[in-house]
Amino acid sequence: MAEKSKILFIGGTGYIGKFLVEASALAGHPTFALVRQSTLSSPDKSHLIDKFKTLGVNFIIGDLYDAESLLSAVKQVDVVISTVGFPQLADQVKIIAAIKEAGHIKRFFPSEFGNDVDRVHAVEPAKSAFATKAKIRRAIEAEGIPYTYVSSNFFAGYFLPNLSQPGLKSPPRDKVVILGDGNPKAVFNKEEDIATYTIRAVEDPRTVNKILYIKPPANIISFNDLVSLWEKKIGKTLERVYVPEEDVLKQIQEAPLPLNVVLSIGHSVFVKGDHTNFEIEPSFGVEASELYPDVKYTTVDEYLDQFV
Ligand SMILES: NC(=O)c1ccc[n+]([C@@H]2O[C@H](COP(=O)([O-])OP(=O)(O)OC[C@H]3O[C@@H](n4cnc5c(N)ncnc54)[C@H](OP(=O)(O)O)[C@@H]3O)[C@@H](O)[C@H]2O)c1
Repeated sequence: MAEKSKILFIGGTGYIGKFLVEASALAGHPTFALVRQSTLSSPDKSHLIDKFKTLGVNFIIGDLYDAESLLSAVKQVDVVISTVGFPQLADQVKIIAAIKEAGHIKRFFPSEFGNDVDRVHAVEPAKSAFATKAKIRRAIEAEGIPYTYVSSNFFAGYFLPNLSQPGLKSPPRDKVVILGDGNPKAVFNKEEDIATYTIRAVEDPRTVNKILYIKPPANIISFNDLVSLWEKKIGKTLERVYVPEEDVLKQIQEAPLPLNVVLSIGHSVFVKGDHTNFEIEPSFGVEASELYPDVKYTTVDEYLDQFV
């Protein structure tokens, strides 16, 4: 059997990155993480660093902003996966430049892992963040770098533990606030499943120059149905407070950071239906659970059980 691709992670010690690094190592890919020296020696990250060591992850000390270390890291691998956070999104042009210079990278996965940013109807501040990711897409395409854009939709760990109620730590048991009429369908995926699907895509020719949508059927659900599912689990009916779009837009304008970001993403997904208001055309996209039907993903229904 051909050797598995060597994968470099940039942002591998971040929230979603750590799931991907683990999935990569467990799948048998020689796994490399570009890590800053300060992160390697940070007490906050020591548990994660130890876990990566146990998994056989190769650390490359460097920095997105240190061109030499970035290029040297890229030169050692076949595939690059970026999971840098919001402040570094635009600076992924530095990764593109390194990939271009190295000249041999088989696939680049830029930091996406959310909405399909070419098909959104967002208002600020989400609008600009999505636009930054779209600009990176265009830069990758202009350089002719083979890519996969992972549209993973919502991270379950971000949006389900409080039923998307900003400020709550557990799902509500009396009252729930619903942006819009609660009917557009959203998609919630467990982080481990996002990682599994992404790593599967690395060697898969069907995902070259495509958007990999993670939309397993059981995880596509409207807010109204999500609340009904939760009500059934706890045996109680919640008061549903619907916020008309006009009021949502006003709240976004008045909210401080980061609440305005959360609300504007909520507006895009729950009011505009941006996870599901378009068809995946074979010319630009593929769906992960269709490509990998053997992956046993965690359903929203199963995920909510832990909070009952
Ligand atoms: N769909 C959803 O529900 C959802 C939710 C959240 C985020 N996202 C998306 O997921 C992607 C990743 O976000 P995240 O929240 O996982 O990011 P994050 O936790 O902020 O992690 C960012 C990573 O980048 C690393 N990094 C920062 N500056 C660096 C530098 N100069 N050189 C090298 N590495 C550097 C950080 O290193 P340290 O570990 O040292 O800090 C960290 O590993 C983003 O595209 C974001 O939009 C999606």
